[in-house]
Order: sequence, then structure tokens, then C-alpha cells
Amino acid sequence: MVMYHSGTGNTRKLAELVADGARSVKGTEVKLVAAGELNLAEAAKADGYAIGSPDYFSYVAGEVKAFFDKILNDGRFTGKPYVGFGTHGGGGKVLGVLETLADHCKLKKVKPGMMTKGAPAGKDADPARALGQALAQAAK
Ligand SMILES: Cc1cc2nc3c(=O)[nH]c(=O)nc-3n(C[C@H](O)[C@H](O)[C@H](O)COP(=O)(O)O)c2cc1C
Repeated sequence: MVMYHSGTGNTRKLAELVADGARSVKGTEVKLVAAGELNLAEAAKADGYAIGSPDYFSYVAGEVKAFFDKILNDGRFTGKPYVGFGTHGGGGKVLGVLETLADHCKLKKVKPGMMTKGAPAGKDADPARALGQALAQAAK
């Protein structure tokens, strides 16, 4: 599952690239879901999570934080693989925050995530797809 928040579309574009990469791994079914519309029971069925957020005041967006708040003591998520991604406007702290929260929630980081300044550029497409691919392989 690729879940993200995006106010103006930048993080959504990065999420789509990550989802593309995950889909390139044969046999992987990928759901792309806005964090604010997430159904927790549905999310709990996923084998892995790519989690994305814009940097809002050097923190994750509230919608993404709400997900972590809900899963902290929910054993259905424990030990499952994840990767993080984010976009920022020049400060770029969101990935560290996101990965700290995910680690606290006992998700298992597959590899260090990535951030882009604003929308992903052409050079970001390959690393973003590689991130999704790595998650899909770990979730098999
Ligand atoms: C309320 C708000 C707070 C923000 N705070 C930061 C910040 O602290 N540091 C930073 O680098 N960018 C900050 N930004 C910029 C966004 O992180 C950046 O534009 C991001 O790419 C937006 O992603 P989106 O298009 O997916 O919403 C902020 C934007 C908003 C709307």
C-alpha cells in the first residue's frame, strides 16, 4: 500500500512514482491511498507500506501523523516492511520525522527513504521507483 498526504500535488506525484516501482515487481497489487481517506482495517491487510508526507512545519502532515497514532499499539502492523518519502520547500526535515514515527510503531524500514524539494524532477524518477520496487520485494 502506498499512502500519502498531499495538499498541492507534489507528494502525490512522488507517491505515483513509488507506486509504479512497486507495480513493476511481478505479482504485486498496489493500492494508492490518501492518508485522510485511509480505512485502517483495509490498511492492516497490506503486506507493506510506502508512506509519504509533505514537510509541514518540519513535521509530517496531520493526516499521516493520525495514521501513526492509530497503529502505535496495533499488532496488525508490527514488523511489516515500510519505506518513507516526502517533499519539502527547502527545509527538508520530514523524512527523519516520518521514519522515527514509523520505527516507534515497529514497522520495519526496508531502506532509507527519499525527499524531493517540491515536485519530483526527472532525476528523481529512478530512485523513487527503486524505493517502491524494494518495498514490493521485501513484502513478498
Ligand atoms: C502549512 C505548510 C507548512 C510548511 N512547512 C514547511 C517547512 O517547515 N519546511 C519546508 O521545507 N517546507 C514547508 N512547507 C512546504 C511544503 O513542504 C512543500 O511545498 C511540499 O512539497 C508540499 O507538498 P504537497 O504539494 O504534496 O502538499 C510547508 C507548506 C505548508 C502548506
